[in-house]
Amino acid sequence: MCGIVGYIGKSDAPTVLINGLRRLEYRGYDSAGLAIIDDERIIISKSAGKVSSLNERARTDWSPDLFSRSTLGIAHTRWATHGPPTEVNAHPHLDRTGEVALVHNGIIENYRSLRARLEGKGHHFYSETDTEVLAHLIGDCDKGDLFQAVCDALHQVEGTFGIAVLSSREPEKIITARRGSPIVIGVGDGETIIASDAAAILAHTQRVIYLDDDDIAIVTADSVDIRDLHNIPVTREIAELGFDAAAAEKCGHEHFMLKEIHEQPEALANAIRGRLDFNLGSSVLAGMGTSPRELADLGRVVLVGCGTSLHAGLVGEYAFEDLADIHAEVQQAAEFRYRNPIIGNRDLVVAISQSGETADTLAAVREANQKGAFVMSLCNVVGSTIARETGRGVYLHAGPEISVASTKAFTCQVAVLLMMALKLGRGRRFSREDGIRLAREIEMIPALVAKVIQQNDHIAEIAGTYAKCEHAFFIGRGPMYPVAMEGALKLKEISYIHAEGFHASELKHGPIALLEKGTPVIAIACDVPGKDKMLGNIEECRARGAHILGLVSEGDHETAECMDDFITIPRCHPLVATIPAVVALQLFSYHVARLRGCEIDQPRNLAKSVTVE
Ligand code: AGP
Repeated sequence: MCGIVGYIGKSDAPTVLINGLRRLEYRGYDSAGLAIIDDERIIISKSAGKVSSLNERARTDWSPDLFSRSTLGIAHTRWATHGPPTEVNAHPHLDRTGEVALVHNGIIENYRSLRARLEGKGHHFYSETDTEVLAHLIGDCDKGDLFQAVCDALHQVEGTFGIAVLSSREPEKIITARRGSPIVIGVGDGETIIASDAAAILAHTQRVIYLDDDDIAIVTADSVDIRDLHNIPVTREIAELGFDAAAAEKCGHEHFMLKEIHEQPEALANAIRGRLDFNLGSSVLAGMGTSPRELADLGRVVLVGCGTSLHAGLVGEYAFEDLADIHAEVQQAAEFRYRNPIIGNRDLVVAISQSGETADTLAAVREANQKGAFVMSLCNVVGSTIARETGRGVYLHAGPEISVASTKAFTCQVAVLLMMALKLGRGRRFSREDGIRLAREIEMIPALVAKVIQQNDHIAEIAGTYAKCEHAFFIGRGPMYPVAMEGALKLKEISYIHAEGFHASELKHGPIALLEKGTPVIAIACDVPGKDKMLGNIEECRARGAHILGLVSEGDHETAECMDDFITIPRCHPLVATIPAVVALQLFSYHVARLRGCEIDQPRNLAKSVTVE
């Protein structure tokens, strides 16, 4: 996720800005830059790659005297969303006069139309970013009052923003504003720090002001004047941060994994935003780079991935067959290449990879390309190898996932697969009315996940019952079968409990021999097709003494009474329900591992990206 730092105060702004960016590095990024004002002109230094490269570049480009005498500046670490991670695309971006500089987090959804309008007025753009368009728009609105120019520009913007803006014509202030992307202001002694994350502020002050959506602030070294976008004053209390830098990187959470679980409503909103068409009952996934005719001509969808991404593909298999009436199958990426797959030009191969660097999945992409298939990817890291080698696909926009155990990437993968299946289906037999209904359900996913996260304390309490177990079975049917597999993977990889996921019907074909009194069975018994058979499977387990933790649909008290413990899942489309259901299992696994004192973010023997075969 991108990072913003702004500073106005006593001295040495470049050092303060670069140190602030260092505190935000954990969020993941691929380029960085800063802008300061000196002698009534804006000076910028940018670099692809790490903050250390930016620091070297700035100290090479600028004199030590400039570092020490500069008192105002803005800086940014960029997590690429529009345009690859290059120096040109790095922030800050300037308006056409070079007298206004902007750093921006978020996505300007209508940037193309804004850019066209500005180009019609003679503006020329150097980058591929939506941010440069906003910088030019602010400059175009500037009639001598930077604050008003920013207000006027933001009234024309659709999408999300967290911004910091400075102007060489008004060198004693920074304007900052937010909608959907956090901005926090640190109130120091004769200095003020703006940041997208409190981690960048802690070295200066514990006193902070959190902006709300559509707040805009005029910031000087000694004042913070907050208004709304209609220039009406707004009062925001000064709060005490109350935690140290290490905790701030995790936004106060004990582990990145818990932070990333709690981030899922925001991450899913970012993954879904602007990608549903409620008029046609379809999805808008320009990155797929396919025409309706090309999609209609496809004969099969093959989903390849590893680990959690493979499990997302298993959900996708149900989605493509149910929604698009097309044969779909999942193949383990490492096996795909060595089995000499029967793949042709009517096959759509979808490579699923959070990191975009998994060696086995990359090898599968190359094999599929070799055999002339239609290949696309579902990646989270923009510009990653798999994303580049497929050349087409859909980015998750989930933000960087730091914890080795994948959580928000999985749910965003499933959400995007549902939208891909919807798009394919609407080119086939899936009706407009059904499409609109499903699009509405997909739009609700962030809220459904938030309802499960609200049960965090209840789930943490349940986890205590299972923390000393050495074995656990996860069972599910239909699209909840992959959820059972994913729940088992989460538990085993962070708690080291031997957990296995099965299709519920499989138990009596062998695994049930392992059941003893007290063996935990986590049963996904939501109201989805096959639930009645699921209840029978649960009774088979209970008859052998198993201890049942059930996931049940809201209001299904009868099923809940059959469980020793239960977690309620909001009622929704069976394919959509996979996402809130897996979030419940993510929280369950997290709390079990926490109670077992495990190293949750960096489990033994595991790496975040397996770049070797
Ligand atoms: C999931 O929690 C694991 N970290 C692992 O299974 C992971 O999903 C797998 O290695 C694939 O990684 P990718 O999505 O980056 O390709």
